[in-house]
Order: sequence, then C-alpha cells, then structure tokens
Amino acid sequence: MTAASVLVAALALLGPSLLSQADGSSLPAQAQVIDQKSFNVLNTTQPPSEFNADNIFVSPGHTEESLTKRPFHVYDKEFLNIIGKNPTLTRIAHSPKDPLYHEAVVWSKETEEVFFVQNAGAKNSSTGLHKSAIIEKISLADAAAVSNKSDAAGLVKVTAVPSSPMVVNPNGATNYRGQIILTGEGQGNNTPPALWVMNPQKPYNTTVLLNNYFGRQFNSLNDVSIHPKNKDVYFTDTIYGYVQDFRPAPGLQDQVYRLNPDTGAVTVVADRFDHPNGFTFSPDGKYAYVTDTGINYGFYGMNFTRAASIYRFDVKEDGTLDNRKVFAFVSPGAPDGIHCDSEGNVYAGCGDGIQVWNPSGKLLGKIYVGSTSANFNFAGKGRMVICAETDLYYVTVAAEGNFVESEM
Ligand SMILES: *[C@@H]1O[C@H](CO)[C@@H](O)[C@H](O)[C@H]1NC(C)=O
Ligand SMILES: *[C@@H]1O[C@H](CO)[C@@H](O)[C@H](O)[C@H]1NC(C)=O
Ligand SMILES: *[C@@H]1O[C@H](CO)[C@@H](O)[C@H](O)[C@H]1NC(C)=O
Ligand SMILES: *[C@@H]1O[C@H](CO)[C@@H](O)[C@H](O)[C@H]1NC(C)=O
Ligand SMILES: *[C@@H]1O[C@H](CO)[C@@H](O)[C@H](O)[C@H]1NC(C)=O
Repeated sequence: MTAASVLVAALALLGPSLLSQADGSSLPAQAQVIDQKSFNVLNTTQPPSEFNADNIFVSPGHTEESLTKRPFHVYDKEFLNIIGKNPTLTRIAHSPKDPLYHEAVVWSKETEEVFFVQNAGAKNSSTGLHKSAIIEKISLADAAAVSNKSDAAGLVKVTAVPSSPMVVNPNGATNYRGQIILTGEGQGNNTPPALWVMNPQKPYNTTVLLNNYFGRQFNSLNDVSIHPKNKDVYFTDTIYGYVQDFRPAPGLQDQVYRLNPDTGAVTVVADRFDHPNGFTFSPDGKYAYVTDTGINYGFYGMNFTRAASIYRFDVKEDGTLDNRKVFAFVSPGAPDGIHCDSEGNVYAGCGDGIQVWNPSGKLLGKIYVGSTSANFNFAGKGRMVICAETDLYYVTVAAEGNFVESEM
C-alpha cells in the first residue's frame, strides 16, 4: 500500500461524510459531522425513566458544549448544499424567563420584517385565561448587521405589534393575499379560537375570517398553511389551550381542516392524530406534512409512548389528502413548526433545534440550539429566524424558503 492508499483506506473507515472532505469539499467553520454509526452501539444506556424525549442525546466523543460550538450538524453530506460555505447562527434576543419567542414565525417581504408570537399559556408568560399572548417583530436589516456574532442578544430591537382588534392568543401564521393570517387559540369559554387576518403594516388592523365549525367552537387552532395551487387555507386544531388551562375541555376531536375563503366552505381533511400541530405543503403542492406532538400534554406532563412524528399525505388534484404515511419520528422532543425549502427538503422545530430531512425522510442535519425550538421560518433566500422560547436566533444558510409568491 502506498501512503496515499493507506490514507484513503483510513478515511473510508471514518465514513462517507469525512471521505467527501478528503475529496475537496471543505467543512464550514460552523459545521461538524455527526457519525451516526458511532452511536449504533453504546456502552451504557439508561431506562426510559432516566433517558427519554426530554433529554438531549450527546453522542460519544461530543459534549453539549462541543455540539453548541459548531451548531450546523451534518448527518448526511446532502446537508452541505443546504448550509452552503459559510452558515451562521446568531442569538439575537434573550428573555430571562418569559417565553417571548414561541411560534407563528412569518416573513413580511414588503417591510423586510419577521413576525412571531409569545407562548400563550406558558406559566412564565403570565398569559392564559386573562391576558393574551403578544405578537412581536424584528427588522431583518438589524439581524443581518450582527450576523457575524454568535451572541448579539440585546443588539436587535424586538417590537410589540399592537394588532387591532387584538389577535387573541396567536400561535401559527402564514402569508395570505398580501396580509398575514394567524391562528388564535381562543381564551376561556367566550373567546373562541379563530383564524385572523392581519395587516402587516400600521395600524395592524385585523379581521376574523373564521371562528366556528357549524356553530361549534374549535379546541385551539394551532397552525395554518395555504395550498400553492388551490389557495385554500388548511389549518390544525388541537388541545393545547385546554392542557394549558386557558380553554374548556375539547368539544371536537383534534383534526385538520380546510377553508375555501371564497365560498366559506369548511371541511375536515385528516383525523386520527394524537395532537396535530404544525402543517405545511411541499413547494409543488403534491405533499402535505402534519406534525404530531402527541407526547406533550402541556401542564399535564408527557407520555413518551405517543407520537412525536411527522406524517406525510399526498394532496390529490381536488385538494383532499390521501395516503397517510410516517415521514419521520423525532427525538429529542417532538416536531412542532414545519416548513419546506424551495427544493422540498423538510425542516421541523424539535427538542434540540431545527432538524432537516430530504423528501424521502432521510435525516440530513440539524441547526442545533440545544433547546426546544417550537417554530422558525425562512425569510426568502438564505435567511431564517428560529424561535426557541426564551431565545431568538437569526440564521444564514444557502437554502431558500418555500413561498407562495402570490400570497406574499
Ligand atoms: C466504550 O467501551 C470501549 C471499550 O472499553 C472504550 O474503548 C470506549 O472508549 C467506550 N466508549 C465510551 C463512549 O465510553
Ligand atoms: C420559569 O422560569 C424559571 C426561571 O427562568 C425557570 O427555572 C422555570 O423552569 C420556568 N418555568 C417554566 C414552567 O417554564
Ligand atoms: C463580517 O466580518 C467580515 C470579516 O471581518 C466582514 O468582511 C463582513 O463585512 C462582516 N459582515 C457584517 C455583516 O458585519
Ligand atoms: C385594514 O384596513 C384597510 C383599510 O381600511 C383594508 O383595506 C384592509 O383590508 C384591512 N385589513 C385587514 C386584515 O383587516
Ligand atoms: C400513555 O399513552 C398510552 C398509549 O395511548 C396509554 O396506554 C397510557 O395509558 C398513557 N399513559 C399515561 C400515564 O397517560
């Protein structure tokens, strides 16, 4: 063996991702390879009472510190195309206690801002039965100006958005006919969950688009997405207002609905979930993805034998959903907010950050923040914002978000 062939043989033992490095593609400074084979067999494992979806898995040879230091984790070399040559992750805001950065992350192309919302019902947010969660926003120019830093908390201004009339307990959002559509979880017995449309510019005026199903209150509307072709509004309804003590016991099973805003017709497109949560479409509109946070019962604990899963459906020509299949089962935590990039890769907010799969469900990599990241979104090409409850992050990568241009 020549010295060179010994080197090639040694690199081959280290696995294909590292071998590709020897082929000339260099690993970005912010990235590291996670070798999945290195943890197929562990020397010690713990029973479920000690290690479960609540715990972050640190594979052999790593520490939580080393995972955080280079936060773009390459599980498959396809991830290198997604993150590009110089990905960055910057913490742009921190809240000591109040989970101000929760969900409903949505880009306003016109104002170059990103909107998001506080965690409705979380004990430390002091919201719930008597006070609604707030909508907030940042300017993308402010975030871009600090993207060289890993921690820029305090340097980016977070502004409260005074929606009027106020959206009550917002949780999900997407672009809709030049406006923003938000799901509201409702409050108590008399403020029903609703779909709200908000003007993304002053005076942030709002209009309620839907607040019942043939007179019955929804449980707590959670997420919303517009189909790229038929333009109908698809949304999930689930129990979180109830298990966070700000909505009465559910009066409907948890399911996914579809509204045709032109005729007003509301139909159910999928059921048989534990807690249907995030919802999105592939860029061509052929697939729908539904996350199920079944393990999470809010204030009432966790049940690790339930779903922490992404289900994929075929979207038929007529807009109905067919052929449900398991796309991914996630650990740690459960997949919550979900979005595709322009290539159809699937991203979900999970217990340790954003996890990314290709369209056949292969885990490509993670944008690791080390804590629950309920939602995130792209802001056009190469930019993302991640909500991780008490921390807000700005990300630059190569990938581009999947947007329905006509809705922007
Ligand atoms: C597992 O055990 C082997 C053999 O004792 C040892 O070489 C290795 O370092 C151990 N790995 C870890 C992660 O402790
Ligand atoms: C509330 O905030 C405190 C202080 O940051 C934290 O220790 C605690 O876990 C939080 N409680 C909840 C329910 O999030
Ligand atoms: C980041 O740092 C590089 C190198 O110092 C500099 O060229 C670039 O302009 C900086 N970018 C921003 C947005 O500050
Ligand atoms: C906000 O007000 C403007 C001006 O009256 C109106 O054109 C627009 O439809 C309103 N938007 C919403 C979401 O209510
Ligand atoms: C957890 O979920 C399983 C499956 O639905 C159920 O059988 C079990 O009773 C649940 N456990 C608790 C503690 O609720």
